[in-house]
Amino acid sequence: MDKNISQILISESAIIERIKELGKKISLDYQGEPLTVICILKGAFIFLADLLRNISLHTSVEFIQVSSYGEKTESSGKIKIIQNLSESICNKNVLVVDDILDSGLTLSYMKELLILERPKTLKFCVLLNKSKDIIRETEVDYIGFEIPDRFVVGYGLDYAEQYRGLPYIATLE
Ligand code: IMP
Ligand code: MG
Repeated sequence: MDKNISQILISESAIIERIKELGKKISLDYQGEPLTVICILKGAFIFLADLLRNISLHTSVEFIQVSSYGEKTESSGKIKIIQNLSESICNKNVLVVDDILDSGLTLSYMKELLILERPKTLKFCVLLNKSKDIIRETEVDYIGFEIPDRFVVGYGLDYAEQYRGLPYIATLE
């Protein structure tokens, strides 16, 4: 194990099991309707890849890249769009997939932005929730795991672009 990793919070097998459940729930909720899944880059790319393989619907995938953290472990409070959608989401069922809910800034910004495109439905899914703000949490339709308010890495999440490839979620020293 990397010397900077202090503790494994969620094991690889627990992640896989939970994603199977999420995929089933999402497949049931949309009742066979087509779904456009929007992956928030970069942090959600591994989660999206596993989630998508557990959704039994006709799906199309879009990517949006935003940045707010830079090389810090706290949000800068400003969000920048680096890459935008390639197709219209007008009249589509849209599910936004992100890695983690923290201040809620990213998702509320995404909501404001995407609603302008007039999707048929708009829902949000995060793998991890470390926010203890009930209002923010209720804006998210699918949550993988509740975690303590610690900075975590792995399974797509980085610290200064490192650790994304770890198959588990861990805290840093
Ligand atoms: P929010 O806008 O504050 O909710 O933060 C959401 C974004 O910040 C996520 O999409 C992550 O990219 C990043 N982030 C928040 N907490 C962590 C963490 O513990 N580890 C790595 N990235 C994080
Ligand atoms: Mg992110």
